[in-house]
Amino acid sequence: MKLLVVGSGGREHAIAKKLLESEEVETVFVAPGNDGMGLDGLELVDIGISEHSKLIAFAKAEAVDWTFIGPDDALAAGIVDDFHQAGLKAFGPTRLAAELEWSKDFAKSIMAKYKVPTAAYGTFADFDEAKDYIEAQGAPIVVKADGLALGKGVVVAETVEQAVEAAREMLLDNKFGDSGARVVIEEFLDGEEFSLFAFVNGDKFYIMPTAQDHKRAYDGDEGPNTGGMGAYAPVPHLPQSVVDASVETIVKPVLEGMIAEGRPYLGILYAGLILTEDGPKVIEFNARFGDPETQIILPRLTSDLAQNITDILAGREPDITWLDTGVTLGVVVASEGYPLAYEKGVKLPPKTEGEIITYYAGAKFDPNMNLRSNGGRVYMLVTTAESVKAAQDNIYKELAEQETTGLFYRHDIGSKAIKD
Ligand code: AMP
Ligand code: GLY
Repeated sequence: MKLLVVGSGGREHAIAKKLLESEEVETVFVAPGNDGMGLDGLELVDIGISEHSKLIAFAKAEAVDWTFIGPDDALAAGIVDDFHQAGLKAFGPTRLAAELEWSKDFAKSIMAKYKVPTAAYGTFADFDEAKDYIEAQGAPIVVKADGLALGKGVVVAETVEQAVEAAREMLLDNKFGDSGARVVIEEFLDGEEFSLFAFVNGDKFYIMPTAQDHKRAYDGDEGPNTGGMGAYAPVPHLPQSVVDASVETIVKPVLEGMIAEGRPYLGILYAGLILTEDGPKVIEFNARFGDPETQIILPRLTSDLAQNITDILAGREPDITWLDTGVTLGVVVASEGYPLAYEKGVKLPPKTEGEIITYYAGAKFDPNMNLRSNGGRVYMLVTTAESVKAAQDNIYKELAEQETTGLFYRHDIGSKAIKD
């Protein structure tokens, strides 16, 4: 088989590397990818994620069997619809199915209609109405831009004033452009957050191990929200009963609801959940794999990912198996200053070999073929060990030996799982 992965981050590196492990797969192309991925034998293709017709022409010319779409913005732009129209197979939801991610108002309305537990909410395009609602509800309260906002469109407000200010910035000052033309204002939920992923085709779904991301930039969950600074799987202190409840009350009804709405779901469903006193509730849905969660989930897959997805695409029952012992943990190394302004061009340490995997996100060769930083999140080290503590020890020992001037990372990925 020849496969194509669309995207350029650590998530796409992990997907492509896993696909290439299959004996059936001769080539995995990544468009546009990043130079670090080339070190793992992946073939980089210089086509951007929004250049649908070029991607389609490439997939046809190379007789690619199917394409895995990584990023949310490509899905929201209808890349899967375009591939289907061209007669090509793509693993990912259509634009209408991906609306679960690209419109928070749509996701909330589906959850309300199909009785999926989530925070109470209101959607507003008018600032005065939003302000009245916030004042009536009181704080803490959460204000979200309706559309995609690079993970930055959510304000968890501790006071009414903060919430009103957030609504003002989105609705009156156009802080997020069209994405903030409507806001979803919702009840603050208290509890432990975790992510649940599934491979999906229609009403058939296959759950992956639970994962926990670390969204804040600095140790102790301090600092600004980022795309994610590290993660581990499975979450050892989440009982199976919580996973079972999440499947029954959340995953099943939402997928059945999407079929009833004429938007059957294909691809990866990402449920961002919070374990409240009343059971698991939905914080958000994403229509794709998480980054950095993919990098710690896929190393636990013991079956053949390429074969599994081929089967799912063909409507066959895939034989999906997971490592059932130990923990896989990963720490993201980012450019100093991320998620705000940062410098590029820092020389990177050599790729790790053996027990620790390096996944690259923002990495680029200089003219002397030295790999240098080229983005906010730069690379991620991932390992599997018998416990969270043992995995942390391995990763942080390696990081202490690496030259990371100009870069930074969190020192406490997974620590919550140890304290509990
Ligand atoms: P999101 O982009 O929707 O994942 O939101 C980003 C972060 O905001 C989440 O990871 C939560 O930590 C927090 N958050 C979002 N919605 C709520 C809520 N209703 N209650 C409490 N925290 C929330
Ligand atoms: N790790 C968070 C995300 O992928 O949205």
